[in-house]
Amino acid sequence: MTIFEKSVKNRKGYELPLYELPDTGCNLPEHLMRKEAPALPEVSEVDVVRHYTELAHKNYSVDRGFYPLGSCTMKYNPKVNEDMAALFSNLHPFQPRETIQGAIDLMGHLKELLCEITGTDDMTLQPAAGAHGELTGLLIARAYFEDKGELDKRRKVIVPDSAHGTNPASASMAGFDVVEIKSGSDGCVNLEELKAHLDDTVAVIMLTNPNTLGLFEKDILKISQMAHEVGAVLYYDGANLNAIMGRTRPGDMGFDIVHLNLHKTFSTPHGMGGPGSGPIGVKAHLAQFLPTPVLRKSDDKYDIDYNLPKSIGMVRSFYGNFGVMVKAYTYILTMGNSGLKHVSEMAVLNANYLRKKLSSKYKIAYDRICMHEFVVDNEEFVKKTQVKSLDVAKRLLDYGLHAPTVYFPLIVHEAMMIEPTETESKQSLDTFIDAMERIYNEAIENPEIVKSAPHVTPVRRLDDITATKSPIFRFKK
Ligand SMILES: Cc1ncc(COP(=O)(O)O)c(C=O)c1O
Repeated sequence: MTIFEKSVKNRKGYELPLYELPDTGCNLPEHLMRKEAPALPEVSEVDVVRHYTELAHKNYSVDRGFYPLGSCTMKYNPKVNEDMAALFSNLHPFQPRETIQGAIDLMGHLKELLCEITGTDDMTLQPAAGAHGELTGLLIARAYFEDKGELDKRRKVIVPDSAHGTNPASASMAGFDVVEIKSGSDGCVNLEELKAHLDDTVAVIMLTNPNTLGLFEKDILKISQMAHEVGAVLYYDGANLNAIMGRTRPGDMGFDIVHLNLHKTFSTPHGMGGPGSGPIGVKAHLAQFLPTPVLRKSDDKYDIDYNLPKSIGMVRSFYGNFGVMVKAYTYILTMGNSGLKHVSEMAVLNANYLRKKLSSKYKIAYDRICMHEFVVDNEEFVKKTQVKSLDVAKRLLDYGLHAPTVYFPLIVHEAMMIEPTETESKQSLDTFIDAMERIYNEAIENPEIVKSAPHVTPVRRLDDITATKSPIFRFKK
């Protein structure tokens, strides 16, 4: 029996609907048409498999070992989540809506769960990354003030100097003036400094909590009160949500707009770029400005709604990065309530174990109980040994370990930002500690070996500026 009017069978024999795509009339002009076959290499299957396997072996990945890349780290990426995402790979966003009800339900339920986790009232799943979420959130704040007739005077977005670079960049892209405030001597927001900048010209205060030093903003309730007293919107950069998930919620701290990095906290591999998903959760008073379409529930069923007159409009094609959403949904359901809480507890425990152990050799910036990550301050170490944080990072590769993030946050000179994540065993943490201690001793006894590292990788130090600015993508014979 066939279910669909027109269908095909996939390799497993399942019937899939076949739709005729509309003729878009998009015929390429003659002069753009290829005149001869492309000069692709002719190789056998076995050569192709060997080529990619060799490339994969040259590459360091979280499947090979420890990956302590603070702030952008590779988290737990269960393989089963990839299988779940693959279940939906035959869907096409142009399919009639009645044939994708399962996918719409999944997005609707995911939205509900994420609202619950963050303490927000409504959410868009559209943005394609954290930074894209930031821009979306700021455009929502902009629309909110425009609607209130206050946009002309509310020009400022306050950002602490410890913030991720995307925060000021997004604020600027959204058309605001960025005001940077200096962190206090404890690494947190300095209330006096904040107060000095707060008035009715402020539109948004953007904070990351825990911040990029891995420290919880202890005065967050006071900050939220101060922000709201001058009518500003409090924005939460949720890239570090894995440190507090299940224990506290940004919405309860007073944040009005919350972005999430699904690809960071909810199990899609991150580091070196996408694919990503940066949902934006909002409190009720901002929901009318969310991007369209929005997910609405009626009669226990979700649907897509384009009717939101004050919406900022679409920020990405279709519904967002659906595969990442499937993985996040699978992850949340697999972990459950207590599992998510356990994740944040383990992330904090592992970070503090590393911090304490490494502090016998390395100076820790703002050395006190941290959240999911902490920052090493190598300024004195560099003066003593001439060995830089970058050299230590490169030498770690010789020990078979991925390097931490270096030179961020900017307020710590010669910074090494270390995030072990919740999934690492004590054994792998001890292996890292051992390598870091050895490198410290090498820097004192034989600095050249650290300064000229790496020695065992397929390539040595790369010219990363040229690689970024003038990449060569073309196949060369
Ligand atoms: C604190 C913080 N904010 C924002 C971002 C930006 O996220 P994305 O790289 O997805 O654009 C990151 C990146 O991981 C981050 O660590």
